[in-house]
Order: sequence, then C-alpha cells, then structure tokens
Amino acid sequence: MQEGAGLLGWLGSTALADAMRTSLWLYPIVEIVHIAGFTLLVGAIAMFDLRVLGWSRSLPVDQLGRFLLPWSAAGLLLIVPAGLMMFSAHPHDFASNRVFLLKLSLIAAAGINALLFHTGVYRTVAAWNAERTAPMTARLQALASLALWITVICCGRLLAYT
Ligand code: HEM
Repeated sequence: MQEGAGLLGWLGSTALADAMRTSLWLYPIVEIVHIAGFTLLVGAIAMFDLRVLGWSRSLPVDQLGRFLLPWSAAGLLLIVPAGLMMFSAHPHDFASNRVFLLKLSLIAAAGINALLFHTGVYRTVAAWNAERTAPMTARLQALASLALWITVICCGRLLAYT
C-alpha cells in the first residue's frame, strides 16, 4: 500500500514513515506535538481576531499583534513537521482523502486572508489602534479568519473518521 511510484510512494517507504507506522508511541507523540502547535497558532490568531472584532478596545491592536505573531509562528514550526510526519505514515490514504484536501485548501485560504489583511487594512491600524471600531474590511477578515481556522480544526479531527 505504501510502496509505488512517485513522491508519495517514496515518502511512504522511508524509515521515518515505517517508524510512524510500527512504533507504539511515535505517532501519538507526534500527534500531541501537532495539537500543541495548532493550539498555539489558532489560539494566538483567535485572540487577535477577537480584538479586531472589538473586544478589549483599550488594548492597542499593534501591541497585541507584536506579542501574538511570534507565538503563532512557533505554532507553525510545530504543526508542519508533525503534520508531515503523520502524513508520511499513510501518504496515499491522506492524499486521496477529500477532508484532508479540504483542510489544506482552507489553510491556504486562511493564509491568503491573513496576507491580504496585513498588506491591506492593517497598514491603517494607527487610525483604529485603540478605543475605536476597526474598519468593516478588518472586521470581515477577522470573522473569515475565525471561521476558516475553526473549520480547519474540524477537518483535522474528522480525518480519523474518514
Ligand atoms: C496549519 C494548521 C493546521 C491545523 C489547525 C491542523 C489541525 C489538525 C487537527 C485538529 C487534527 C486532529 C488531531 C486529533 O484530533 O488528534 C489534525 C490531524 C492531522 N493533521 Fe493537521 N492541522 C494543520 C496543519 C496540518 C498540515 C500542514 C499537515 C500535513 C501536511 C497536517 C496533517 C495532519 C494529519 C495527517 C492529521 C491526522 C492525524 C490522524 O488522525 O491520524 N495538518 N490536524
């Protein structure tokens, strides 16, 4: 099942993939690292989005962003290697799993939404940094961000059942 041609076949035949399939503890430990990573990433993003949506208006948005951004980056540094390790254990199964493909597409959409936010309306943050309602664009992007990341988590959890 794991052999076969191409990148997926190679990935599934590596020693790491074999260890992920045969070791009693490696896969669960790697999954815990994955969970810790997205708790940091989505937790940091959600706190920033809730501030943009109007919670804790006295808290300067830019200061909160400077505090949370490194934590979300740290989360990604845990999520991606752990995710790839779990993927390597059953690459053909995950690559042909529609929920997994949806999850990756939603992650890409959330990344594009964040990029558009930071290169767009966030450049005007000085005008709505504290005690002001954020522009409608910023609030809509914060809502989209929350919805996308919650759906990514749902897809991730549902993987075990599909
Ligand atoms: C970037 C944001 C990501 C989030 C928020 C996320 C979230 C999740 C969640 C909630 C689970 C279920 C964990 C559980 O219930 O035990 C999961 C599982 C999984 N994730 Fe991710 N994930 C992310 C990125 C990735 C990436 C980039 C990959 C690989 C390329 C990946 C591969 C996997 C795999 C293979 C599983 C299945 C584990 C299993 O059930 O056996 N994830 N993810």
